[in-house]
Amino acid sequence: MCGIVAYIGSREAYPIILKGLQRLEYRGYDSAGVALLDKELAVYKKMGKVAELESSLIGTNLHAQSGIGHTRWATHGEPSDRNAHPHRSSSGKLAMVHNGIIENFAPIKKELLQKGYEFESDTDTEVLLHFIDDIYQNDANNLEEAVRIALKRIVGAYVIILLDQDNPDTLIAARKGSPLVIGIGKNEHFLASDASPIIEYTKEVVYINDYEMAIVKPDELILKNPGNERITPFITKLDMELAAIEKGGYEHFMLKEIFEQPTAVFDCLRGRLDAKKGTITMGGIDQHLDLLREAKRIIIVGCGTSWHAGLLAEYVLEELCRIPVEVEYASEFRYRNPVINPGDVIIAVSQSGETADTLVALENAKNKGAFIFGVVNVVGSSIARLSQAGAYTHAGPEIGVASTKAFTAQLTVLYMIAIKLGYSKGTLSKERYQHLINELAMVPDKIQDALNEAASIENLAKKHQDARDFLFLGRGYNFPIALEGALKLKEISYIHAEGYPAAEMKHGPIALVEESLPVVFVATRDIYHEKLVSNAREIKARKGQVLAVITENDDLFEEIADDTISVPAADELIAPLISVVPLQLLAYYTGLAKGLDVDKPRNLAKSVTVE
Ligand code: F6R
Repeated sequence: MCGIVAYIGSREAYPIILKGLQRLEYRGYDSAGVALLDKELAVYKKMGKVAELESSLIGTNLHAQSGIGHTRWATHGEPSDRNAHPHRSSSGKLAMVHNGIIENFAPIKKELLQKGYEFESDTDTEVLLHFIDDIYQNDANNLEEAVRIALKRIVGAYVIILLDQDNPDTLIAARKGSPLVIGIGKNEHFLASDASPIIEYTKEVVYINDYEMAIVKPDELILKNPGNERITPFITKLDMELAAIEKGGYEHFMLKEIFEQPTAVFDCLRGRLDAKKGTITMGGIDQHLDLLREAKRIIIVGCGTSWHAGLLAEYVLEELCRIPVEVEYASEFRYRNPVINPGDVIIAVSQSGETADTLVALENAKNKGAFIFGVVNVVGSSIARLSQAGAYTHAGPEIGVASTKAFTAQLTVLYMIAIKLGYSKGTLSKERYQHLINELAMVPDKIQDALNEAASIENLAKKHQDARDFLFLGRGYNFPIALEGALKLKEISYIHAEGYPAAEMKHGPIALVEESLPVVFVATRDIYHEKLVSNAREIKARKGQVLAVITENDDLFEEIADDTISVPAADELIAPLISVVPLQLLAYYTGLAKGLDVDKPRNLAKSVTVE
């Protein structure tokens, strides 16, 4: 979604802002812009990539020591130069960038039109800017007060940053529902939607909370609440290296992140799972073990890939802990009136920790008294902070738009929770508990083995790159992996793909089967194996092409399938952590073969901070 960067200090602002916008490109956007202040305010914006903005500015005098920048992902108004941010006030003295959606922009716009304001764009942002400017001109002592008054009337989500020609040494920022981080340098400050534009300048940051306002000068950061009272900024040290957000020799972030999975899973297990001692230590779980053990019901909430991790966790938690589990799409959960009873525990699954639907669903559930447990990747994110307890996934920054290593890390955390909880409840025997711990400890090496098949998966991708549709089938623990395989392929290659429980095929999707349809079976060895073999025969009998992810040395499937991809043997409960890897590679190489931008697929945003 939209990305925001700003700088105030003694360096040249433009290169810092430009680089910051490039670092935020992964979030998804369709236009970019900057406003720079050097005596006079100058605004430059362009539809398209940050690189296009950059080349359009070659030869322009861009000297300034403060500025704001933005990458826009269109919500109100088509992607275009005029709808790009920053927007400017009528006087030309104020510039503003905004991330989020102003829901009540229409009545405010009507009032402003009646007062004679003219609009140069179709955006809700310009409405908010004119609204602030109107209050600034007529009813407030200063810009800070104008922003405070204006925001009291605003319904929706926002992060805004304003630059004021009359107050060149001050940036005003405010947030509600969209993220904002401020990096603290020596006589300089860096503002951004996440830490990636900041990390190379400082590791000291302040995460701004909802309803807080920041008055940012080169040498001072003042935080205030809506009652205009000062709050002490809580400074956090970033636990992230610059290398983690660079490609490190890989052609794409997605490939790098797929190949980082042995390390990501290892990092997630590290310090928690001790196979020798047979222990799983997780602070967030240990402190709330009684509450989790006695949970009447667990409700898992997430979106997209995180929802798929939740679906698999449902199977695993019910099997090992005998607690009823429901998995909810956050976007549905937030709007229907779900029954939440005392004793219900909500597990929120989110890579970014900023997904708007998940965030609001959790806020609603928390207001109804539910206990929120977060499984989140981005440290300090909104969902992490809203959760009453949690476990970080420690996968490191995920830049590729398609989620890969975050998924396997989410599963690793959810499996550890289920195994620990099951053993503590007595629903999991000591032998099986130790066996599953041993199996989890071996996952990083087994993922590495699965990655060694990359070259043959690339060939398979080339073979099927022109397919119009794909079907992904799996049963039991591998059904969520079939869904995930289909989602990855859709996102990255734009090929229509459906994931189905293999047995459901006969209830409809089998009608699609013809010679040109590749059907991917997620068929690692488990109790359903024979049944899956029959399903594959049914596809072959109708001339479909069978591709299968199988456990090594599965002669039966090798005989039926047109192509197979082997992964190392694992306990059937743990196998999905490994069987998903070839499907991620299949999606990657298919997108690559089709010449698509796999790190920034069309229309998608990395973190969906609007509904
Ligand atoms: C798919 C993908 C999305 C996200 C979804 C939730 O590859 O990345 O489906 O999984 O938008 O995002 P988070 O996990 O950040 O809440």
